[in-house]
Amino acid sequence: MKKLVVLTGAGISAESGISTFRDSNGLWENHRIEEVASPEAWEKDPEMVLRFYNIRRKQLFEVEPNEGHKALVRLEEKFDVHIVTQNVDDLHERAGSSHVLHLHGELKKVRSTGDPSLVYMLDHWELKMGDVCEKGHQLRPHIVWFGEPVPMFEKALDIARQADVFLVIGTSMVVYPAAGLISYTKPEIPKYYVDPKAFPVSGVSHLTVIQEKAGEGVPKLVNELLGLA
Ligand code: OAD
Repeated sequence: MKKLVVLTGAGISAESGISTFRDSNGLWENHRIEEVASPEAWEKDPEMVLRFYNIRRKQLFEVEPNEGHKALVRLEEKFDVHIVTQNVDDLHERAGSSHVLHLHGELKKVRSTGDPSLVYMLDHWELKMGDVCEKGHQLRPHIVWFGEPVPMFEKALDIARQADVFLVIGTSMVVYPAAGLISYTKPEIPKYYVDPKAFPVSGVSHLTVIQEKAGEGVPKLVNELLGLA
């Protein structure tokens, strides 16, 4: 089976009702996203950081996967599909995708600030100051913040290098290292970029730019790829 690798960003979840980061000026309560999703923000105002992620976690219980997420599941009929997502939601998993790697962490997980190997699933939406791990340390969101290393990147790189087909869906391609993944794929493989604001990525050959919303563009592309396979 050919290996099909998909890099997704906030845009694939937009039609499920989850706001993207940069389409609404990248502002939340007048703070730039980089000023909330950072170790400095956690140091200075952990309550604010918890509130930001609590709102998002709560929203997860109210949204559903859309046609874009669902279409990617159908690809598994004929391809060995690996999704590398920048999203912290669980909509790919809930749609039924088998292999999902979260580059930027997961909203439903929290981890110890004293021992990062202690990671827990949260079965409710609210994480509060005073919620501690089994060793008594404060819990924080299991999210990769700006300025922090991206532990899953090496694994994502391995997957991208093996791709026979590479899809990019719903990402502004401005946040690195995720945005650089496409540059590590084999030059000759077919690549597709679905996003209303998709653009030809410099230095990337054999790239088809599809300026459509994920809910429309992805099912069409999936039908085409399944037809070709
Ligand atoms: P952005 O908010 O930067 O970009 C969202 C992209 O989705 C844009 O290119 C939009 O054109 C596109 N878009 C909007 N509606 C769409 C739709 N219906 N279908 C398809 N595409 C649509 O989000 P990301 O690229 O995911 O990191 O941002 C990357 C990272 O920056 C995030 O993972 C997050 C953020 O700060 C962290 O929090 C660490």
